[in-house]
Amino acid sequence: MSAATPGTGRRHLLGVADLSADEIEHLLTLTDSFVEVSRRRMPKVPALQGRTVSWLFYEDSTRTRLSFEQAAKRLSADTLSFSVSTSSVNKGESLRDTVETIEAMGVDCIVVRHRSSGVPHQIAQWVSGSVVNAGDGWHEHPTQALLDCYTIREHLGGLDGRRIAIVGDITHSRVARSDVWAFTKLGAEVTLVAPPTLLPPSTEGWPVRVSHDIDAVLPEVDAVYLLRMQRERMTEALLPSLREYTACFGLTRRRVDLLGDKAIVMHPGPMNRGVEIAADVADLPRSVVIDQVRNGVAVRMAVLFDLLGSGRDLGRHVPTEGDR
Ligand code: CP
Repeated sequence: MSAATPGTGRRHLLGVADLSADEIEHLLTLTDSFVEVSRRRMPKVPALQGRTVSWLFYEDSTRTRLSFEQAAKRLSADTLSFSVSTSSVNKGESLRDTVETIEAMGVDCIVVRHRSSGVPHQIAQWVSGSVVNAGDGWHEHPTQALLDCYTIREHLGGLDGRRIAIVGDITHSRVARSDVWAFTKLGAEVTLVAPPTLLPPSTEGWPVRVSHDIDAVLPEVDAVYLLRMQRERMTEALLPSLREYTACFGLTRRRVDLLGDKAIVMHPGPMNRGVEIAADVADLPRSVVIDQVRNGVAVRMAVLFDLLGSGRDLGRHVPTEGDR
């Protein structure tokens, strides 16, 4: 990284739909630098010293929450831990009062996950600091899409011209929405594969093909991206049974052999082994699920740095070879 790294100039990261291809590429290039930092014996830089990041997760999370925390710490930001389940939210405190209370304590960035679409956008209206959308309802999960792009670039050399199948519960998936935008903006061709009941009523305006035949799609793709069957979001019987879903759309051991030799298998996690992905398929060398998690830390370092630290003199802040 050279001195005075320029940024996207954004205050918030709320979705991929409103990012340009250049902005996505910028964040991926910035991620390269933080991957390098993460490989150091002391994987920490003082880039966000004096800044404070807090989390507001109204939904459960393992990967996103922990990787944001790890990212903030590796950038030397202070972190203010907040757990909705043990907070005054349980005494009826409103979202706005909660947010304003957190910001009053000197927080520069709030990372928010909420079951309702649009909540991060609403919070962004109330605060003077930055907001990062860590997943809002069925709407978007932008940092997941960025780490997915980074992982595809790492394994396939880039997204331009790549063919990617996204398979599963598209209707309830914020990951699918963010990935469709990110993958296609970077030049990939996306095919959504699902039974009609797990597709939105209309995909008009989505830059995708749709198929109901996974066996026909698998031989054509460079990457197959499996979505979790989100039982907690299904409010009606959309499938005869999970067993039937697995039989018709699961990535079984037989189906994985339909893929080309170099094709990769992706999943945002958490996986339902034995439902959308066979247990042994999840552990094959072509499965890059753990790489996605690993890259998530560096991608989130890039996002936090872009929002809070761009313009800082990284040449001075980031340790060089001689500092290790
Ligand atoms: N992929 C993802 O968002 O995982 P978590 O729900 O564990 O954060």
